[in-house]
Amino acid sequence: MDRPRLDTERLDLRPFLPEDAPEVQRMAGDPEVARFTLAIPHPYEDGEAERWIGTHQEDFELGRRIVFAVERRRDRVLLGAVSLSLAPDHDRAQLGYWIGREHWGRGYATEAARAVLAFGFRTLGLNRIQAQVLARNPASRRVLENLGMTREGVLREFVRKWGRYEDVEVHALLRSAFEAGD
Ligand SMILES: CC(C)(COP(=O)(O)OP(=O)(O)OC[C@H]1O[C@@H](n2cnc3c(N)ncnc32)[C@H](O)[C@@H]1OP(=O)(O)O)[C@@H](O)C(=O)NCCC(=O)NCCS
Repeated sequence: MDRPRLDTERLDLRPFLPEDAPEVQRMAGDPEVARFTLAIPHPYEDGEAERWIGTHQEDFELGRRIVFAVERRRDRVLLGAVSLSLAPDHDRAQLGYWIGREHWGRGYATEAARAVLAFGFRTLGLNRIQAQVLARNPASRRVLENLGMTREGVLREFVRKWGRYEDVEVHALLRSAFEAGD
């Protein structure tokens, strides 16, 4: 089963390939990326990127998760990742993303995530897409606001990140709101 591809104005969202592993390790291994994410290990060990990329096909085929590599079309540079983790019984997914630090502030996360939201609602038929963001991550909160998500609440000290309990905000978009704003 082929994993999906999406196009936006500047970006190609495509499956990760084994040859992306060194760039994934370099960008996701950056402490400035890892310190804001809930799932990226740190330090980022050799072999971890290959292992992670190696889970994507099976996760897609089992309907668990769809992970897109975010590639800039004009020069084929890998910028980061966007994913949907699926809860099929509820027509729900959780959005996740990271962008390599040298590419921040150019609208890439917003552009990529917007395409993935449209794919989730229109192609997958999802009813709700949510995101969990560390309360101390204003850039990611801004991305979610720009996507039209509603901040639903704060899960206090929901995670332990690098030895500290941290508040996590839940943001979400329902299909009804997506269609109304579309
Ligand atoms: C969060 C992240 C994905 C954003 O990527 P990006 O490509 O720079 O995002 P965009 O350029 O599309 O949008 C960033 C928005 O945040 C705003 N922003 C950036 N830093 C900010 C800050 N310190 N405070 C408030 N807003 C900030 C930008 O101005 C922009 O908003 P605008 O378009 O309204 O001006 C990137 O910083 C990242 O990978 N961080 C580490 C990993 C992470 O946090 N992942 C998300 C986990 S929930």
